[in-house]
Amino acid sequence: MNILLLGPPGAGKGTQAKRLEEHYGMVQLSTGDMLRAERAAGTPLGKQAQAIMDAGKLVSDDIMIAMIKGRIGRLGGKGFILDGFPRTVPQAEALDKMLAENKIALDAVIEITVDEVALVDRIAGRFSCKNCGASYHDRHNRPKQEGVCDVCGSHDFIRRPDDQADTVKARLDAYRQQTAPILPYYRAKGLLRSVDGMAPIDAVTQQIETILKKAAG
Ligand code: AP5
Repeated sequence: MNILLLGPPGAGKGTQAKRLEEHYGMVQLSTGDMLRAERAAGTPLGKQAQAIMDAGKLVSDDIMIAMIKGRIGRLGGKGFILDGFPRTVPQAEALDKMLAENKIALDAVIEITVDEVALVDRIAGRFSCKNCGASYHDRHNRPKQEGVCDVCGSHDFIRRPDDQADTVKARLDAYRQQTAPILPYYRAKGLLRSVDGMAPIDAVTQQIETILKKAAG
């Protein structure tokens, strides 16, 4: 299956994508994680993206489209979960084009809806494993054993530089102005489904699995 997870910062896209990856062997394509890897490696692209990300703005369409194009071309038949792409209408149009070129169909576009107050709380409490990227929260989603990553056993955790209060406001503005307009784009194609992201993490996963089963026919 090939799906796209949409939703504002902190909605739970990354959390759900990781679960789908583990349960169904799909490949998570997170453009945020790709950019953070470029930053960590100190590449010219990473350096260019750093200031934009830390200001809560969007990296240019040209860069993002080129980045995802390379990944889509190397999937080798595996299903994917797109997380963080597309984020603008030009990105959505470019995605359609690259999927058509690779003869890949999109099965569902799943919007995770969450109240804005909860989003800010989720982002403020988020931390992740420095080694494998597994995401946690100070209150809603702590590691089973304190200080030890559930997935890889690492003891190193980090917080994202763009999770500061001012940057979160800019990221929410960018979502409203530049990303929300892609919802009607997918609604018009009959692909858009919505899940209640205010529910606990397991319940959100169940809602997504129900959609996937229906899409699989
Ligand atoms: P990106 O990394 O994509 O960030 P984002 O979209 O802002 O989303 P987040 O990663 O903050 O949230 P999420 O929805 O994944 O939530 P999570 O699962 O972590 O992008 C970062 C930056 O990169 C952008 O600002 C931009 O600059 C650039 N960029 C990336 N892609 C781009 C593109 N295509 N074009 C241009 N620029 C691009 O969950 C959050 C917290 O809540 C966690 O602590 C989690 O444990 C907890 N949680 C999750 N679900 C629940 C639940 N149901 N109940 C309670 N807590 C929950």
